[in-house]
Amino acid sequence: MGTLTGIFLDTGRIDEIRKYHAQGIIRGVTTNPTILSKDGVTGGWSGIEKRCKEIAALISPLPVSVEVTTNDLEGMLDQARKFAAWAGNINVKIPIHGPDGETENLKLVNELEKSHNIRVNVTAMMSAQQCLLAAMAGATYVSIFGGRINNMGYDSRQEVRRLRSLLESFSSPAKIIVGSTREVLNIVEWFEAGADIVTAVPSLLEGMLVHPYSKETVKMFLQDAERLQKG
Ligand code: E4P
Repeated sequence: MGTLTGIFLDTGRIDEIRKYHAQGIIRGVTTNPTILSKDGVTGGWSGIEKRCKEIAALISPLPVSVEVTTNDLEGMLDQARKFAAWAGNINVKIPIHGPDGETENLKLVNELEKSHNIRVNVTAMMSAQQCLLAAMAGATYVSIFGGRINNMGYDSRQEVRRLRSLLESFSSPAKIIVGSTREVLNIVEWFEAGADIVTAVPSLLEGMLVHPYSKETVKMFLQDAERLQKG
């Protein structure tokens, strides 16, 4: 079993990051272009830079993943170097391959990790075998999309267990991130299956924290405390 690293908040929202970081319960943040656009980043590149730097400063030294916005190899390299220069705790997210299955991305992953000393999170993976190759290429993080695997009708827990055992067989230091979280239960079940990190949107963290019976119990304590204090 790998070293448990914890929950990465899957959001671009500063208020949510501030809230959960202050509680000490997150170990990093993940973003992607979809999240940043949904979470109100505007203003093109200056808007992206501003938000990413803000997140990085807020959670430093914890890591934040920022994803490249192009499929062009030179463009990805330029962006990766730019993101890494924004802050020391920014990791660069590179998809496992291009939209049509172009297979050049792992070369870039290898280069970024080994020659540019940039930490890479290989993303958009749906199988243990893809993650194994990303780990072999030297990625610091391998992100498998558990929720999307479940949506395709497969059991994501089996894929995470298989990946954990493969990485152990090869003594790979790559950390397993399981993302695309859809249900509160996913968080614990993926850790049990061998994830180092599970990403969660803020609403799932709240769902993990709040229990109706805990509410009722706390209400009872408060009512009885009032009675007790009145004598
Ligand atoms: C993880 O790093 C990703 O940002 C995220 O979990 C993607 O999940 P989705 O399936 O919700 O797009």
